[in-house]
Amino acid sequence: MSQPNAIHYELTCPVFFIGFMGAGKTSVSQQLAVTYGLASIDADEYLELRENRIIADIFAEDGEDYFRDLETDVLKDLAARSPRLIGCGGGVVTKRPENARIMKESGFVIYLMVTADGASKRIPNTDSRPMFKNLETARRTIVERAPQYEAAADVAIQTEGRSVPDIAQEVAAILLEQGVMVKKEED
Ligand code: S3P
Repeated sequence: MSQPNAIHYELTCPVFFIGFMGAGKTSVSQQLAVTYGLASIDADEYLELRENRIIADIFAEDGEDYFRDLETDVLKDLAARSPRLIGCGGGVVTKRPENARIMKESGFVIYLMVTADGASKRIPNTDSRPMFKNLETARRTIVERAPQYEAAADVAIQTEGRSVPDIAQEVAAILLEQGVMVKKEED
């Protein structure tokens, strides 16, 4: 009796997740990585490893500009590597216009939309996020950033009140439809 062919999935280009802190960029990319056997990485974690410092300390010791330079450098580095799911920091499209260009030219960009109230429920400890000062500021920042997220994205997905597996399923359907994720059968 013949065995069914093994199926696996591949990305044809990097997939960048953008959106405000707490939108689910890391969780959704991890969920997709586990479900479809894809590589995933959190750009901020990678930056912290490379710098050997946490982001809160980089902000406190060297300021936001220094952090934004590192962020662009990390983005270029990841864009040039083999395709993977990349969870970006919430401010990636705000201060360095070249970041949106790097992502658009090298990959597919997914904007996960969230409100400040929704985000605050998902962030267990806002102390680790220097840009999430309080709910009022977060509300204003999201409104300010929304046009920048929209302009940088290939697609936007509403995440409010939805579970991570549910959002991941919608993302997977889009990636398959766009040919960014492809199904391969091994014989
Ligand atoms: C930031 C978001 C953070 C991190 C840094 C700045 C921002 O990433 O890059 O604290 O400006 O919104 P997450 O969105 O992963 O929390």
